[in-house]
This record gives sequence, C-alpha cells and structure tokens, in this order.
Amino acid sequence: MIKHTPISILTTERLILRQWQADDFATFAQMNADPKVMQYFPKLLSEQTSDFIAHKCRQLIHDKGWGFWAVSLREGSENKGNFIGMVGLNEIHADMPFAPGVEIGWRLHKAYWRNGYAFEAAQAALKFAFTVLDLDEIVAFTAVINKPSQQLMQRLGMRNTQQDFNHPMLNPHHALAKHVLYKISKDDWR
Ligand SMILES: CC(C)(COP(=O)(O)OP(=O)(O)OC[C@H]1O[C@@H](n2cnc3c(N)ncnc32)[C@H](O)[C@@H]1OP(=O)(O)O)[C@@H](O)C(=O)NCCC(=O)NCCS
Repeated sequence: MIKHTPISILTTERLILRQWQADDFATFAQMNADPKVMQYFPKLLSEQTSDFIAHKCRQLIHDKGWGFWAVSLREGSENKGNFIGMVGLNEIHADMPFAPGVEIGWRLHKAYWRNGYAFEAAQAALKFAFTVLDLDEIVAFTAVINKPSQQLMQRLGMRNTQQDFNHPMLNPHHALAKHVLYKISKDDWR
C-alpha cells in the first residue's frame, strides 16, 4: 500500500513543487497546445483537456498528499512565482505491463528549458519517494524517440531496463508506440 501524506510542498534551491492553483491552468494549457512541448505526445491538448488534467493532478495531491506537482520559481528569481510546468510522481496505470508501481514524470514550459529545472525538481521528487513514501523503486517511461527525456533519466541515475514495450493506448504502428522503461531503486539512489 502506497502511503498518503498531508499535502506536501517540496522546496529546492530555485523551485517550489506545490499544489496547483487556478492561475496555473492558462500556462499549462499553453504548454499543452505547443507543438514543441508536445513533440513526443500523440496529440496537442485542447484547453478543456488540459484543464481536466490539471484538476485531476490537483485532486490527486489533495487525496494522497503527493502527485504531479505544479512547479514554480522561488523568491529571488527574476520571474518569481511563475508557474513553469509539472514534475512529480504518479501511480502507474493498471494497463501498463510493469504495474503496479510509481513513476516519475515531467513537462515544463519551453521558455524554461535547459536551466536544470527539471533535474532539480525531479531530484526532489525522488528524494520524497524514497524517504517520505519509503518506496523501493521508481520507474520512468517515454517514447524511444524522446531522447531529451531519456538523457534526464540517465542524469538522475536511472537505468534503462532494456524492457522496451508498446504503449497500450497507442496503435503498435504509431511512431510513438515503442517505449523505453527506466528504473531506479532506493539502494541505487542512496
Ligand atoms: C524533458 C524536459 C522536462 C527537460 O527539462 P529541462 O528543464 O530543460 O531539463 P534540465 O535543464 O533539467 O536538463 C537535465 C538533463 O536533461 C537532459 N536534457 C534536457 N533537455 C535536453 C535536450 N533537449 N536534449 C538532450 N538532453 C536534454 C540533459 O541530460 C540535461 O543535463 P545537462 O544539462 O547536464 O546536459 C523538457 O524538455 C520538456 O518539458 N519536454 C517536453 C515534455 C516531455 O517530453 N516530457 C516527457 C514525457 S515522458
């Protein structure tokens, strides 16, 4: 059984991973309609679908205390308080061949890429997973062609299990169907 906690806020040197707020939704919708951000997703999302996902993230954080957190910049940064995307943890959907378990995931607004923000936020999420939730293992998966995300997994110390799989929600012939599966154990993380 995976632990529930009080609503958790994670703070890093430059970022806050927190509960979603109503004024994050517009930027999130902008990201989800951006072909560059969504390059490795099957389709762009409408504002309605984007809002639905943000509500769902908010509800899960409300219910469990953790999840895909909204990420914003901390005091002192030029764009203080700005919502820059989402990073966090999610219970794997039962349809996945490696379920049950917890995944780590990320999606940031492109204006903030290549500043080390995803790495910094993901490190905090891993620390939370292994210390507060006391989980034994975290997985990450993405389309084989999504190299930036795999580079990030590697930088976090995750290893490629070599157990590629076809995403159950996609037609096996779709260019994004084939996925890699990365893992990190609590021991490796230590
Ligand atoms: C993947 C993503 C979250 C990375 O965010 P970011 O804040 O730019 O990443 P960071 O600056 O923290 O980079 C950390 C590491 O990730 C890797 N990385 C990030 N962007 C990369 C790119 N465009 N090409 C290659 N490697 C990249 C690098 O290893 C980098 O370490 P380095 O800077 O020391 O080389 C961002 O590109 C994104 O939101 N992409 C679209 C959404 C997405 O594909 N999500 C994953 C779906 S599974």
